[in-house]
Amino acid sequence: MKLKIAKLPGDGIGPEVIEQAAKAVDAVCKKFSHEAEYTFGYVGACAIDRYGDAYPEETHNICMQSDAVLFGAVGDPKYDNDPTAKVRPEQGLLAIRKKLGLYANLRPVETFKSLAHKSPLKTELVDGADFMCIRELTGGMYFGEKGRKDDGNTAYDTCIYSRYEIERILKLSFEYAMRRRKHLTVVDKANVLESSRLWRQVAQEMEPSYPEVKVDYMFVDNAAMQLIRCPKFFDVIVTENTFGDILTDEASCISGSMGLLASASVGEHTSLFEPIHGSYPQAAGKNIANPVAAILSAAMMFEYAFGLMEEGAAIRKAVASSIDEGVVTEDLANGGKAYSTSEVGDWIAAHI
Ligand code: IPM
Ligand code: MN
Repeated sequence: MKLKIAKLPGDGIGPEVIEQAAKAVDAVCKKFSHEAEYTFGYVGACAIDRYGDAYPEETHNICMQSDAVLFGAVGDPKYDNDPTAKVRPEQGLLAIRKKLGLYANLRPVETFKSLAHKSPLKTELVDGADFMCIRELTGGMYFGEKGRKDDGNTAYDTCIYSRYEIERILKLSFEYAMRRRKHLTVVDKANVLESSRLWRQVAQEMEPSYPEVKVDYMFVDNAAMQLIRCPKFFDVIVTENTFGDILTDEASCISGSMGLLASASVGEHTSLFEPIHGSYPQAAGKNIANPVAAILSAAMMFEYAFGLMEEGAAIRKAVASSIDEGVVTEDLANGGKAYSTSEVGDWIAAHI
């Protein structure tokens, strides 16, 4: 099979980790006789420097003409402490999500037995935790009306959702739950927010269509607590954009390192695969960042964009071996030898 991949490494550690993901992709292609064709595109701060636009038209065209987008990270500290900046690298990520219609962000949380000790939670709480966070990605406060009034002294962001937007993400989540342990937790703040009450109403209306799925409703503050109190409770979590942003960062530490968590964003056009860790500028160029999240994102790419499950599994197996054998970057080394980003990437590719 020919795989047309848009390669958007972005900023910070993005290029380093995407290079390792590409090594894994190439190794899988060699093993299973596929052919990967990459087209490079600028996104984030590097795109602002070059085009004055965090998601230039040229990059968008590349994504639209590809079968999958392999995305690194965006962000640069020079923008973080400047609230007056007109263009920001993060706009690139928001624009790509919106323009590709990527309304569902899937962030799996899996635990590796040999890393349970790295989790800030007790081993018995973490061991065996395995759930999927489904975050709505193109609505809510991120995209609702926002602005300033009173000479800039009052600011607002609007959390707005239509029934259509809620239905499509819930449908995907119910269907996802059907393929897993059939337990869906809808996270909202329906005791306070009208948008949450619409979410809950729509979810309740859809429940009878999925009689096998056990649905529970949880307020987001409680969900934040339950995630660390008993992560094993969860199977599939679905929630709106902002809640999902916050809860998935929280959930990412359950497995021991944020450097392990991959994601897939799917929707109307080309799907996008991205580690959830961000640009981590302090580590950029040092060859120390954990490439596993990016490599596991490549595994999700095979599975979700191409339906190539065995290929995805081959990557997962090699990643699991690298962790079991202690071929890990410094975030996971635990006093043992810390391997560099590229050494871990080479080891995993060789193992595939
Ligand atoms: C994420 C990130 C982004 C978000 C930022 C970089 C805009 O934190 O993917 O979770 O808030 O969605
Ligand atoms: Mn985030």
